[in-house]
Amino acid sequence: MKVVHSIEELRDQLRGQNRTAFVPTMGNLHEGHLALMNLAHHHGDPVVASIFVNRLQFGANEDFGKYPRTLQEDIEKLQRQSNVYVLFAPNESEMYPEPQNYSVSPPSDLGDILEGEFRPGFFVGVTTVVLKLLACVQPQVAVFGKKDYQQLMIVRNMCRQFALPTEIIPHETVRDADGLALSSRNRFLSDAERVEAPHLYRVLNQARDEIRGGAHDIERIEADARAALAAAGWKVDYIALRRQRDLRKAAADEVVAGEPLVILAAAKLGTTRLIDNLEV
Ligand code: PAJ
Repeated sequence: MKVVHSIEELRDQLRGQNRTAFVPTMGNLHEGHLALMNLAHHHGDPVVASIFVNRLQFGANEDFGKYPRTLQEDIEKLQRQSNVYVLFAPNESEMYPEPQNYSVSPPSDLGDILEGEFRPGFFVGVTTVVLKLLACVQPQVAVFGKKDYQQLMIVRNMCRQFALPTEIIPHETVRDADGLALSSRNRFLSDAERVEAPHLYRVLNQARDEIRGGAHDIERIEADARAALAAAGWKVDYIALRRQRDLRKAAADEVVAGEPLVILAAAKLGTTRLIDNLEV
């Protein structure tokens, strides 16, 4: 694996390639990230990964400073366990040599709801860096995790609307044996919080089972899920049952008619904010 830090070196490495598959990350790699890279290798060759903690997508009182940065360990992991051919690990001044004052704004009906409501500006930061990373790598395909369901949808729509030549491929959420979705933020959980954390996924499953069993009173299902987590000490940002195709609320008759739904959740355990979702 070659590790490059500049856009110029990256372009040199990729010259003449026309089946590049790309996996952007912010590092502190876990099995979920590695699974994306494996899937990328089914769709293209060479596989390029990036590690860049993108300041633009962190709010003023979020964890940009404390986001785990483990580049050496990440490099060793990739060398041992992945088919990644080039790792692009730019520093801040390479990605943002001047203030990044051109940006991409997702439409507000997608960018300002759910995660976007609780993290204002988050998706502008994500789409802006993803567009820039795609311009650097110029891949034929890029793999994104369903763990970040709304991000996946926003990136996919951006690529379609700008006619970018990159196909976005989703990967299922990778979980620990107890159901907790893998995340770089899980390392911030105390032992007791780590035991409680899979409760989030269990609550999503309960909601899904109710809908599968014929329930269609969405607000009651959401409220029950919220109450279950609150009772266990979580601070819930949102639990929302939405249509898969556009993340809008589904009417009761749509639920009855079998409209594909997804339950999305974000909640804090102590100071650690976890997100998860489940398709119905
Ligand atoms: P990061 O959180 O590092 O995630 C990188 C990619 O890995 C994303 O596509 C994310 O959805 C996926 N991923 C993370 N945990 C996963 C899991 N448990 N199962 C499956 N996929 C998982 O998402 C970002 O970085 C950034 O916003 C980025 C797109 C790199 C832009 O800065």
